[in-house]
Amino acid sequence: MPKTKGTVASIDLGTTKICVCIGRLAGNDIEILGTGWHPSAGLRKGIVANLSETAKSVKACLEQAEREAENVVESAYVSVGGTYLRGVNTSGEVEVLGRGNCVFPEDISRAVAEADPKDIPEGYEILHKLTQGFSLDGHGGIDEPIGMTGNHLAVKMHVVMNASAVIQNIANTINQANVVVNGVVMQQLAAAEAVLTQDEKELGTVLVDIGGGTTDISVYNRGSIWHSEVLPMGGALITKDLAIGLKAPLQDAEEIKKTLGSVFPTEVPDEEIVEIREMGSNRQRVISRRLVCQIIEARGDEILKSIKNSLAKAKVRPELISGVVLTGGGALLQGLREKAQDTLGVEVRLGYPINFRTKNKEILNPGYATALGLVRYARDIHQDPSEKPAWSGLMKIKTWLMGKI
Ligand SMILES: Nc1ncnc2c1ncn2[C@@H]1O[C@H](COP(=O)(O)OP(=O)(O)OP(=O)(O)O)[C@@H](O)[C@H]1O
Ligand SMILES: [Mg+2]
Repeated sequence: MPKTKGTVASIDLGTTKICVCIGRLAGNDIEILGTGWHPSAGLRKGIVANLSETAKSVKACLEQAEREAENVVESAYVSVGGTYLRGVNTSGEVEVLGRGNCVFPEDISRAVAEADPKDIPEGYEILHKLTQGFSLDGHGGIDEPIGMTGNHLAVKMHVVMNASAVIQNIANTINQANVVVNGVVMQQLAAAEAVLTQDEKELGTVLVDIGGGTTDISVYNRGSIWHSEVLPMGGALITKDLAIGLKAPLQDAEEIKKTLGSVFPTEVPDEEIVEIREMGSNRQRVISRRLVCQIIEARGDEILKSIKNSLAKAKVRPELISGVVLTGGGALLQGLREKAQDTLGVEVRLGYPINFRTKNKEILNPGYATALGLVRYARDIHQDPSEKPAWSGLMKIKTWLMGKI
């Protein structure tokens, strides 16, 4: 099988499913040529807990995607999540040394290096350095300073770090599946590429990816990230609560959650019942659907309150953002969008992937936001010398910086 020029591959290592996408640029859209999907075995809350099991799942996904795309995957961009991720805002300032006090790329590199966090926790490394903006001699609001004149260049950044062992184990897993890692990308950065519009990133938007194991938050404003956090809770916790509360197998609890669950129990008629298998036997029992929804509501409320606390910590003022976008499979829970709107006090919409072309419409779903967004991200920073990059301006600087990590 060949590798067609211009194609890039992504691997989303999710807690509940692993997904591979192969795609290429088609005008302003991304055309997805092939996808592979497999239940995730060996990941816990976004972290590799069993390398060979995870590698096996990755291989299964790769084979599926390669067959569909008629393209071989030699290297890929891979998502990273988990609660070891740390995002901090930093700044750095340097003297402009370019000829005639003109800012050259080298000046930017020095300013960016100066903005490295001074207290990187032991065992951690920098994953992304995302520029928020530059200033020259105290005049801020500069997106691209190259070619401008001044004495002092300052940069503000959002720096994302992760435990080195987490990153290394991801690389080991992917290598075991015979694929080279092109880059490791924070999940919410990838998901944003699939579901947010440029306007939303500019105006101020909170992206919340509710996955199986974790809830990933990132706050965008003026085109940049200002806050990122990973909460150790997701849809799998709701399923577990149901399985324990109803004494039912996990698989049945998951099915009931998706088909009959809601975060508004009071809207469920008193007399509605649900049939469910008893744990450890095939005997069917009937229980009140309202009880099911009460269990879901309790955990749903906890997740939403944790999101609210995260935003308060980041000093995000609801009146200053255009809204919240909920994505990830967990966002599909019935009533969650409406409840999030009440709890967070802002407009909330569901984040479906936009500007993707695919024959497989099923993947245009919030659960695939990370895998799809990763293809767009990869496509933007992919450095194939035989191809002309299709991006410019601020994006170029940001991706140039990210590409160097
Ligand atoms: N229709 C639905 N209603 C309620 N929950 C749903 C629905 N569809 C999917 N989910 C839940 O979404 C979660 C999986 O989401 P997703 O596929 O985004 O997670 P993941 O990427 O595997 O995990 P993570 O990002 O946490 O590592 C599961 O808990 C699943 O039960
Ligand atoms: Mg995910």
